[in-house]
Amino acid sequence: MAQLQSVPAPNGLTQQMEFELALEFTRIVEEAAIESAKTMGMGDRPRSDQVATEAMRRAMDSVPMRGTIVIGEGERDKAPMLYIGEKVGAKADNLALPEVDIAVDPLEGTNLCATGAANAITVLAASERGGLLHAPDCYMEKLVVGPSCKDGIDLDAPVKYNLKMIAKSLSRDVKDLVIIVLDRPRHEKLINDIRAAGARIKLIGDGDLSAGIAAAVLGTGVHAVMGTGGAPEGVITAAAMRCLNGEILARLVIDRPELEERVTKMGIKDTKKIYRAEDLAPGENIVFAATGVTDGSLLRGVRFFGDGIRTQSLVMTRSTGKVRFIDSIHVHQGPEFKVRF
Ligand code: FBP
Repeated sequence: MAQLQSVPAPNGLTQQMEFELALEFTRIVEEAAIESAKTMGMGDRPRSDQVATEAMRRAMDSVPMRGTIVIGEGERDKAPMLYIGEKVGAKADNLALPEVDIAVDPLEGTNLCATGAANAITVLAASERGGLLHAPDCYMEKLVVGPSCKDGIDLDAPVKYNLKMIAKSLSRDVKDLVIIVLDRPRHEKLINDIRAAGARIKLIGDGDLSAGIAAAVLGTGVHAVMGTGGAPEGVITAAAMRCLNGEILARLVIDRPELEERVTKMGIKDTKKIYRAEDLAPGENIVFAATGVTDGSLLRGVRFFGDGIRTQSLVMTRSTGKVRFIDSIHVHQGPEFKVRF
């Protein structure tokens, strides 16, 4: 278990602040989405990521909070901004403001944005101090499901068993399930096992975080996400699951001695631990915000039109129990601007 500060600071994120910060965080992911969407299809991944990161960083500094990036663009010496440990927020030295831990993925699916493919999003999650696991930047085995399928799944069980449990929970046959898997050579056996069990598969190029959210929302046509992806994305997925009553079972993939050493230094004693959403995002108060960059299964991408820009975001707060789909029109206030329904 990583060193978590389980007791929130007296002036940490409270229900009221969760509520108020939700709108501020919406603005942050919207601005990052607008900037990255301008680079859609240009084939320049670093540029797409850079503009999203810069926009997110800029917007964060206008939010009244004492924020600390706990999951970000990398270690301080590798990332110019939104690095792990970076302090963000307006008047970060004002002790009256709430202390907030923030996990960001300024652009989930840089490749998707750079090629104009579906499901690129800008995303962040925030909680009181200690409310998000400080996960290392390594891989993580994941099994993500929605509220009806939380019980009975087991990360160590054969794929066939988990599919049967998911199908049973959803009162359908295994053949009627759709499982999302990242299209990677490392998933060859997993894909064969899912096919052998009879379920259908949606292979994705990138974006197992947005796929996980889709799995936890009824009616998206996605029933689970299986396979290995980034651990930082796993923590942000867990924050979303805490707001959607979904579940993620996860285990870090520690496959190199240097990584083992690093993880031990971070205070994680049991490197084989299977985490649930509550272990990865234990916070009482959680804010999750994501904006679509390109059209996806859950969110529409950014649309530019003559008089402005339109964005769609998913903004959720855990303790106040809100799941909001926010459709924003950012108008260019020229003399004759018009707003369309
Ligand atoms: P980016 O945010 O860097 O675009 O990563 C997207 C992603 O596909 C994640 O959704 C996923 O968890 C991870 O990369 C998988 O990593 P890899 O591409 O190394 O398999």
